[in-house]
Amino acid sequence: MTFSQIAGTGSYLPSKILTNADLEKMVDTTDEWIMKRVGIKERHIIGPGESTSSMAVQAARQAIEAAGISPEEIDLIIVGTATPDKLFPSTACYVQKTLNLPGVPAFDLNAACSGFIYSLSVADQFIRNNTYKTILVIGADALSRLVDWNDRSTCVLFGDGAGAVVLRAATEPGILIADIHADATYTHLLYAENNLWEYHGPSYVNMEGNEVFKIAVLQLGDMVDRAVEKAGLQKSDVDWLIPHQANLRIITAAAKRLGLPMERVVLTVHNHGNTSAASIPLALDVAIRRGQIKRGETLLLEAFGAGFAWGSALIRY
Ligand code: ACO
Repeated sequence: MTFSQIAGTGSYLPSKILTNADLEKMVDTTDEWIMKRVGIKERHIIGPGESTSSMAVQAARQAIEAAGISPEEIDLIIVGTATPDKLFPSTACYVQKTLNLPGVPAFDLNAACSGFIYSLSVADQFIRNNTYKTILVIGADALSRLVDWNDRSTCVLFGDGAGAVVLRAATEPGILIADIHADATYTHLLYAENNLWEYHGPSYVNMEGNEVFKIAVLQLGDMVDRAVEKAGLQKSDVDWLIPHQANLRIITAAAKRLGLPMERVVLTVHNHGNTSAASIPLALDVAIRRGQIKRGETLLLEAFGAGFAWGSALIRY
């Protein structure tokens, strides 16, 4: 049998940092409110000349180097993003262009904050069925471009960044389970308009935060149980939880459900905010580079976002 293994990871954060103190000068908010309700201290914001694809490329280069492969070995590029450089071509095509890999298939996948988990699950299928051997999977978003900087209920939440993983075919797992779900009953609770249609205003994030919060906690809890069960593991087998970094309270609830102490949860939400599809690969890369996550450990990745679309991946690293 063929499995997908993580050969290398990389990430990128723009240099500009927006702190809660900065936001206090922009909208009616406080560091105390943001820390208590969400757990975010600062977030990185994309600078002039940068784009989703430029961030994705930086993360990809690091992942390729960490994997010890040459870029020419890449068979497929998938970019999970909800903030593409252009409507078309895809951001993945711009990544292909900058990495100088003509001919390599490349596409974007939009599952909002779950974009990386969805992309990982697609890549895993291509490797398991022996179509491709080496796949570059990227999560990259610039949600700051979709934020109404006068709306205190959303502008404090988001940041920009990219994370990447090189997946390679192997005889041992790797990805044990990649599980994806969606329920469009809730499209109205979290969306950004596309002004190509009857709507002609700016494309801002609209979110009923409170409602999203309740459903996220519920679904993430169920997801934790299901992923472990499907993989035939016990919750105690999970060494690290690498959750989508949207809200510290949601993350704490998921860790509790897993019975995992917070020391075993990778947390970047304080410094990154919610970077949408980038949040999980960013957190994964940070933890690997810090030396927290070691080869052979079992990781549970989980995401929840607009759609609602959610998913998890259980991985033997
Ligand atoms: N500063 C100060 N006060 C604020 C702020 C702010 N930045 N934002 C809202 N408030 C006020 C509200 O106006 C409200 O005041 P009121 O009681 O006088 O009406 C009060 O704080 C409480 O507002 P709530 O929205 O009920 O606050 P809540 O505790 O739910 O926290 C939050 C809001 C942080 C958004 C939370 O609901 C949350 O994290 N939701 C989930 C977000 C998420 O996971 N999104 C999914 C991924 S995103 C994606 O897919 C793109």
